[in-house]
Amino acid sequence: MQQEGFTLWMTGLSGAGKTTIARLLETKLKERGVRFERLDGDVVRESLTRDLGFSKEDRDKNIERVTFVAKLLSRNNVGVVCSFISPYQAQRDMVRQETTNFIEVFVHAPLEVCADRDVKGMYAKAFAGEIANFTGVSDPYEAPENPDILIPTHEQTVEESASHVIAYLEEHGLIPVAEVQ
Ligand code: ADX
Repeated sequence: MQQEGFTLWMTGLSGAGKTTIARLLETKLKERGVRFERLDGDVVRESLTRDLGFSKEDRDKNIERVTFVAKLLSRNNVGVVCSFISPYQAQRDMVRQETTNFIEVFVHAPLEVCADRDVKGMYAKAFAGEIANFTGVSDPYEAPENPDILIPTHEQTVEESASHVIAYLEEHGLIPVAEVQ
């Protein structure tokens, strides 16, 4: 089967689990021989978008540049997983228009859960007022109303979350169905 490209777009609060799920997906899909690339906010912001901050204008530019990369890859039959907070619905709708086989994945956990996890120690600083415009605390997050996939990470394991996404890709003919062992 000739592989089609796709753009898995993981949106959600910081600490919701976007990167963790994207990493596991990368491992599982590469094991299956799927051509795959991963684009991650924390990584991209150290290179392609290192000049940008967290104002609405800069977040929009961040997503626009990443979209350009995802567009080139996905139209050339590569599967791409993008993990970005991407808080604005209008921007996510723009990505849907620009990329091939766009799938909006809402990686959801309540703010309290993300703040409790506080993987990077940033929520403590945001609540103390030491980081301005922090998504969910002092900056907006527009939750997707009709995501293609909803992943409640406070209610399932990373394995379950990744399996859910893989099942979706199989059902939509975007990756070959795994042979039963
Ligand atoms: S986006 O809004 O432009 O999509 P992106 O996903 O690239 O954001 O980057 C988010 C990451 O930047 C967070 O995981 C966190 O590590 C870091 N960060 C630093 N400052 C902020 C802030 N004010 N709001 C959100 N994330 C921030």
